[in-house]
Amino acid sequence: MTTPGPEQGAAQVDAEEARRGAFSSRKVFILAAIGSAVGLGNIWRFPYVAYENGGGAFVIPYLVALLTAGLPFLFLDYALGHKHRGSAPLSLARESRRAETIGWWQVGICFVIAVYYAVIIAYSLRYTFFSIDKAWGDDPEGYFFGDFLQTSAPGVTLDFVPAVLVPLVLVWVLVLVIMGLGVQKGIGATSVVFIPLLVLAFGALVVRALFLPGAADGLDTLFSPDWGSLTDASVWAAAFGQIFFSLSIGFGIMITYASYVGRRTDMTGSGLVVGFANSGFELLAGIGVFAALGFMAQASGVGVDEVVADGIGLAFVAFPAIISEAAGGSIIGVLFFASLFIAGITSLISILEVVISAVRDRFELGRIPAVLAVGVPATLVSVLLFSTTSGLLVLDIVDYFINRFGILLAAVVMMVVLAWGVRSLPGLAAHLNRFGSLKLGRPWFVLVSVVAPLALGYVLLRDFLDTLDEPYGGYPTWMLNVFGWGTAALVVVVALVITLVRRRSVPDADDTVKEAGR
Ligand code: PHE
Repeated sequence: MTTPGPEQGAAQVDAEEARRGAFSSRKVFILAAIGSAVGLGNIWRFPYVAYENGGGAFVIPYLVALLTAGLPFLFLDYALGHKHRGSAPLSLARESRRAETIGWWQVGICFVIAVYYAVIIAYSLRYTFFSIDKAWGDDPEGYFFGDFLQTSAPGVTLDFVPAVLVPLVLVWVLVLVIMGLGVQKGIGATSVVFIPLLVLAFGALVVRALFLPGAADGLDTLFSPDWGSLTDASVWAAAFGQIFFSLSIGFGIMITYASYVGRRTDMTGSGLVVGFANSGFELLAGIGVFAALGFMAQASGVGVDEVVADGIGLAFVAFPAIISEAAGGSIIGVLFFASLFIAGITSLISILEVVISAVRDRFELGRIPAVLAVGVPATLVSVLLFSTTSGLLVLDIVDYFINRFGILLAAVVMMVVLAWGVRSLPGLAAHLNRFGSLKLGRPWFVLVSVVAPLALGYVLLRDFLDTLDEPYGGYPTWMLNVFGWGTAALVVVVALVITLVRRRSVPDADDTVKEAGR
C-alpha cells in the first residue's frame, strides 16, 4: 500500500466523514452531548435522589462523584470514540479485539432502553395536551393508571391501549425521520433547536413555580442539609449512581458521538462543559420540582415530605395535581410536559444512534437502510410490549434491571478491562492530550483504574444484594425472571454471539488517515 501524501490523507478524511457523518462544529457536538445527558434522569430522578440523600448536604457526595468518576469516565468514552472513529463495538475492537463484546453489550442495552424510553416520551406528549383542559379531573392517579393506561393486573396482555399506541407511533416516526437525516442534519440540528428551547421552557416553568405560594417551604425541604447523611454509605452510592446515569456514560453514547467530532477538537474541555451543564440543569430541576411540591403541600395542608415523589408518580400523578390547583396551571402543565418531551427526544436519539452506528459499521450499510433495520424492529417491540394494558408493569421491571445489571455492570467491566486487561489508559490519555485543554495524567489513571471501578462496583454489589433480598416491586417472580434478569442476560448472550460469529478482521482506521486529519 502506498502512503498517501498529506493532501491525499486529508481527502480520505473528508471521504470518511462524508460516509459516516460528522457534527459540523464543536458547538453542535456539545449541544448534542448535553441533549443526551439532560433527560428524564435530570428532571424526575435527581430532585428526589438529592432530597432522600441528605438534601443540601448531598452536594458533597454529588460533586465528589462527578469529579472522581463522572468526568473521568466521560473522558474515557470520548477518548475511545474520538481516537478510533467508530461505533462503540468498532472503537472498542480497534482498542483490542477482546474488548469488542463490551461494545455490543452496550448496543443491546441501548436497544432495550430505547424501546421503553420512547413510551414515556409518548405519555409526555399525550399529557402536554391533557394539561390544557386538565383531562384528569380531580383524580390524577386514577386517571393515569385507570382511564389512560388501563393498567392490568400483573401479567402480560396483548390488549392495546390506543391512547398510548397512537402517540407512541408518532414518537417513533419523528425519531426515525431525525435519525434518517443523519448526524448533522438530524441529530445535530435537532439538538441545536431543542436544547435552547428546553432551557427556555424549563426556565419559565421554574420561575413560575418559584412564585407559587409554599415554594419556599419546598426549597427549604430540598436544601436543608442533613450532615449526618455523609457517613452513610448508601448516600455515596446514590450519588455515584445518579452521576453515572445522568451523564449518559457507559451506554456507548459518548463513544459514538465523539467519533463524529473533528480531529483537532479539545475533547476534555468539551467534557467539562457538558458535565457542568448537565449538573446545572439538574440543580435547576431540583429547584423547580421542589418549589412546585412545596405549593402542593401547602394547598393540601400537609408537610412537603408527604408529597414528594419521583419518576412516573412525580410526572403523571403529582404534577397533574399541582396543575389542577395552581393559578395558570395549564401553562405550567404544558411547559412541564413539553420539557419532558424535548429532554426525552434528545436522549432517545442518542441511544438509538449507538445501535444504528454499530449496525452500519458491522454490516456496512448506508444510513437509511440501517435506520430501517433498527427502527422497524424497535418500533414493533416497543408497541407490542409497552402500548398494552400491561405496558407500564413491564417497563418498570425492565428499567430497574437494565440500569443496574446492564449499564452499571457493563461500565465497571469496561473500566477494568481497559485499565487492567488491555492497558489502554496511557494511549488514550495521550490521544486526548494532543488537543485537550485539560491534560490527563496520573490522577486520571488512578481515578479510572481504581477509584471509579471501586465506587461503582460497590454501588452494583449493594443493588445486587438488595435485589436478591427483596424482589423488586412485589411483581410475580416469573415476570422478574423474564423481563428483569432475563433481559439483562439476553443482552449479554446476544453480544457474545455477535462477537463470536466469524467475520473478516476488524476494519482498520487507516493510520495515515488518522494522522492527516483536520
Ligand atoms: N442522561 C440520561 C437521562 O438523564 C440518561 C439516558 C440517556 C437515558 C439516553 C435514556 C436514554 O435521562
